[in-house]
Amino acid sequence: AADFAWQRTSYHFQPEKNWMNDPDGPLFHLGWYHLFYQYNPDSAIWGNITWGHAVSRDMIHWLYLPLAMVPDHWYDIDGVWTGSATILPNGTIIVLYTGDTNEAVQVQNLAYPSNLSDPLLLDWVKYSDNPVITPPTGIETDEFRDPTTAWTGPNGTWYVLVGSRLNTTIGVALVYETLDFKNYTLLDHPLHTVDGTGMWECIDFYPISTNSSVGLDNSATGPEVKHVLKASLDNLKLDYYAIGTYDEGNVTWTPDDPEMDVGIGLQVDYGRYYASKTFYDQNKGRRILWGWVNETDADYDDLAKGWASVQTIPRVVTYDSLTGTNILQWPVEEIESLRLNSTEFEDVFVEAGSLVPLDIGNATQLDISVEFEIESTQALEESMLGETESQLECSVADNRTTLGPFGLAVLADESLSELTPIFFRLVKSNGTLKTLFCVDETRSSKATEVFKEIYGTVVPVLDGEKFTMRILVDHSIVESFAQAGRRVITSRVYPTEAIFDKAKLFLFNNATDLNVTAAIKIWQMNSADIHPFPLY
Ligand code: FRU
Repeated sequence: AADFAWQRTSYHFQPEKNWMNDPDGPLFHLGWYHLFYQYNPDSAIWGNITWGHAVSRDMIHWLYLPLAMVPDHWYDIDGVWTGSATILPNGTIIVLYTGDTNEAVQVQNLAYPSNLSDPLLLDWVKYSDNPVITPPTGIETDEFRDPTTAWTGPNGTWYVLVGSRLNTTIGVALVYETLDFKNYTLLDHPLHTVDGTGMWECIDFYPISTNSSVGLDNSATGPEVKHVLKASLDNLKLDYYAIGTYDEGNVTWTPDDPEMDVGIGLQVDYGRYYASKTFYDQNKGRRILWGWVNETDADYDDLAKGWASVQTIPRVVTYDSLTGTNILQWPVEEIESLRLNSTEFEDVFVEAGSLVPLDIGNATQLDISVEFEIESTQALEESMLGETESQLECSVADNRTTLGPFGLAVLADESLSELTPIFFRLVKSNGTLKTLFCVDETRSSKATEVFKEIYGTVVPVLDGEKFTMRILVDHSIVESFAQAGRRVITSRVYPTEAIFDKAKLFLFNNATDLNVTAAIKIWQMNSADIHPFPLY
């Protein structure tokens, strides 16, 4: 049977108990990182949504604070839903969030901290004239939510986006203009729409530098700046983004590649991941991405555990100047402070069809960095000429093909009765080799009630590059980054046997005709200190 205590994570953020969903209003203020989150104080299942609140010096160790906002007015009595913070040039902090009203109408409300000199921002005031935005004509009153961080235009006005849908199928980012955050005008055109993508939740919109890895404030513009637009697709429960150009004058955004538009192109994370949100960290000059990772077990398991959901390790977002087509996501450097002893294996020859146990002791809290080298892709390409074209889709790790899969099996027991393989597979598509990056959960747990998915996608591997992964293992969550963060896959897995000292780590190569050489460094990870603020 499942060991619920083992499943609780040790260095990912999660509340002490009960249900959490989206990250809300992340910000840095007077030495503290603040994270708010959709939180049900009463149960491990969604409902009665408040804003939970925690603070941290480094986004790794956390102190829980009292709830920041609870449903207590007609305009949010059915839930204090998702929202974002904006720090104004004079240091004022404003929050816009969605309230679900006494009539189940979604409205946007203004809130702010009563005392900016309090580093903990304990006390939150809801504006007396809320709501500040109500659903416009033509928009369903229950499909209008999750205001973004605001940005300024050339004439000093502020803009904010609210997600919705038009005619059931068209995902839309509506734009509101404001001078004072109290009065708003809906622009006569949206920032962007994509047909067929349905309701857009939790829109995120931010500038990204194309010639430096420095993060940008939301209002930054310029020749070396592109803009990322992200929407959480309610229909699919997946976060999609696209890189494009923001037109300041017209307040519109155009994707670089219309075929890779929001909702039809790239996902932020190809695993279990939703409702993500970034913020500009003025402390270290970087853009940080938070994302909600739901459970994939049954509700009755969550009730038995008494908790549900975790947040990912916060990730730094930069532009991938090598591909020019995607963002890079990488765990914040602060996570490295949890690294304990490390073990290194160099030049490990992993012959086609072989398995190499990595003897590292405890394997439930790990930070793994691995590089695979193969023979030249040109030779491979030639040897593949006679082969048939493959689907660009991940399949189980047991499916042995000429050039894969090869990778790591985490949370695996000695006899491999349970394992979670994370791997690359090279396949032929349109006459050339493509690389799939995949996680196969199908044998991750003997529990039958849990979802076990095969996640994955094609990842760009450029000429001369090795095949690289970084994997964070923390009990029931595994975050896997390929090629320096070009693609990310987050999984929840619930082994029943590969737990405690029975959890092991293996290198494997299931290819039939490809030998790989691996270099791997593995750190044991300390637990983070996450507990109530001592004063409360
Ligand atoms: C996304 C979401 C948001 C909403 C919130 C309610 O997960 O559905 O659209 O504001 O959660 O908790």
